[in-house]
Amino acid sequence: MSLFDLFSGDRRTPDAAPARPLPADPVGERIPVIELVDVAKTYRMGTQEVHAVRNVSLRIDAGEFVAIIGPSGSGKSTLMNVIGCLDVLSSGEYRLAGEDVGVMDEVELAHVRNRRIGFVFQQFHLLPSLSAWRNVELPLVYAGVGREQRRRRAVEALTRVGLGDRIDHKPGELSGGQQQRVAVARALVGDPALLLADEPTGNLDSTATEDALLLFDELHRQGRTIVLITHETEVAERAQRVVRVRDGVVQPDERPVGAPV
Ligand SMILES: Nc1ncnc2c1ncn2[C@@H]1O[C@H](COP(=O)(O)OP(=O)(O)OP(=O)(O)O)[C@@H](O)[C@H]1O
Ligand SMILES: [Mg+2]
Repeated sequence: MSLFDLFSGDRRTPDAAPARPLPADPVGERIPVIELVDVAKTYRMGTQEVHAVRNVSLRIDAGEFVAIIGPSGSGKSTLMNVIGCLDVLSSGEYRLAGEDVGVMDEVELAHVRNRRIGFVFQQFHLLPSLSAWRNVELPLVYAGVGREQRRRRAVEALTRVGLGDRIDHKPGELSGGQQQRVAVARALVGDPALLLADEPTGNLDSTATEDALLLFDELHRQGRTIVLITHETEVAERAQRVVRVRDGVVQPDERPVGAPV
């Protein structure tokens, strides 16, 4: 997976506008941001089949802060790839903000990733030769937004994550926690419906972890929809709702974090 895959959109129809607000259904109810119905993802390795995710039905509404937690190999990243439209389902249905992902081709998937989802990763995935604001503007470059608006929105996003005084710093001139905040700013700059984070604190020390989690708390209070994947209970505890994955299956009960499994 390359940065291009993550941030590129459909360049045939450049559109400077931020993502549209989520549509409402005919009775005026909000459409869920994520709706997975009986989803499975199977990898074929020669004659062997790996059922990385199976029978997963999950609904996440606008404004929710959800942690997905499970042991290593339980299918968390597979689920993240499915939710992030980075991988196609083997079976089942997936609607993202009401749109059926199953019928989309590569170009449409790229467009949806660019407009609907902000990604944050354990490894930050920043380009080392670019300054903070140049990294943050990348999704807008792919979306065809004009130069001045790109810079203005990148600086705004960096200010929102507390890095208004570091916009010209390159990743190597920033601490790990600051680099992760640049990555969060980049995820937010396109005003996506969903912020999707896979082990975002995995490479941070405890202070930077706390700062990053406070930032997620604040983004949640501002009404963002956040899905955070982690194997750390202390991190999952910060979410409003915890979804447990085990052997590729979402556990039906959502016990409080820390409760015996
Ligand atoms: N590309 C692939 N091809 C074949 N099998 C895969 C592939 N990706 C993942 N798997 C298998 O699917 C299962 C789920 O893997 P996944 O990466 O989703 O786990 P995870 O919960 O993210 O683990 P971790 O906490 O270690 O990151 C594992 O058994 C893994 O070996
Ligand atoms: Mg993983």
